[in-house]
Amino acid sequence: MTNTPETVIKDIGKVLNDSSRPMKERFRALFTLRNLGGQTAIECISQCFSDKSVLLKHELAYCLGQMQDERAIPVLRSLLEDKEQDPIVRHEAAEALGAIGDPKLRDILEKYMEDPAVEVAETCQIALHRLNWVANSDEESQSKSLYLSVDPAPPSNEKDVDILKAVLMDEKESLFERYRAMFSLRNLGTTESINALGEGFKASSALFRHEVAFVFGQMQDERSVPFLKSTLENTHEHEMVRHEAAEALGSIATEECTEVLQRYLQDPRPVVRESCEVALDMSEYENSPEFQYANTLLAVEA
Ligand SMILES: [Fe+2]
Ligand SMILES: [Fe+2]
Repeated sequence: MTNTPETVIKDIGKVLNDSSRPMKERFRALFTLRNLGGQTAIECISQCFSDKSVLLKHELAYCLGQMQDERAIPVLRSLLEDKEQDPIVRHEAAEALGAIGDPKLRDILEKYMEDPAVEVAETCQIALHRLNWVANSDEESQSKSLYLSVDPAPPSNEKDVDILKAVLMDEKESLFERYRAMFSLRNLGTTESINALGEGFKASSALFRHEVAFVFGQMQDERSVPFLKSTLENTHEHEMVRHEAAEALGSIATEECTEVLQRYLQDPRPVVRESCEVALDMSEYENSPEFQYANTLLAVEA
């Protein structure tokens, strides 16, 4: 994908920036741009922050972080500083800055570590821990996770589920250490570790609960469905957590998942209903012989 002509990248950018297109198409365009990378892709993604969809904008920030390209720092900084942006978008901008991991970002993350939006404050605290960790660890252990994601924290070296669960649920422990336990439980992938992660939905931090749902989405394991289903069904739950549960159900893509996603396609909260739309599109892909989920490149070139 490295020799894609600029004009093709820009065409994909147009799909992303076209608010008359269905959200699922815009998401596919976004993931294609993320995979392509480079200056033009970053510009196309950055343009889209003027959109009104919180869901789309938070995903733009997430993708910029996963690209780990320093050229995205200015736009991510300005998002974090913009109090008019939804906390979900600002949270994702802070996490993305942590993923890029440049020590120069310490100042801005410290500035917002007590932000009145608790999702933002907690994310900055975790990202600062990550910067410290990056500064003190060798290249090899920083490499991408089993799931090819740049995680907000590295997995803990502990492998004992009971010990990991105790850290996961310890409200006095730092979120960074609790995330480390979470990613280690994810990597274990056993029934016990999945059940321990499911307990994580009882944690007091909404940010933490949304990360549990995100991790279940990465694992794509049917054993997590009961936890995810009850999270999406709980209309008192934070919309950021319900959104992540919906997308995880989309990636697991069983009939039961589809049924629950269809029920929330008209949810009063835009972030939740748009997530269900995108999730149903992801599950269609999971159940089809299509080669790649993000295939806007092929569509544009055809
Ligand atoms: Fe997030
Ligand atoms: Fe998300």
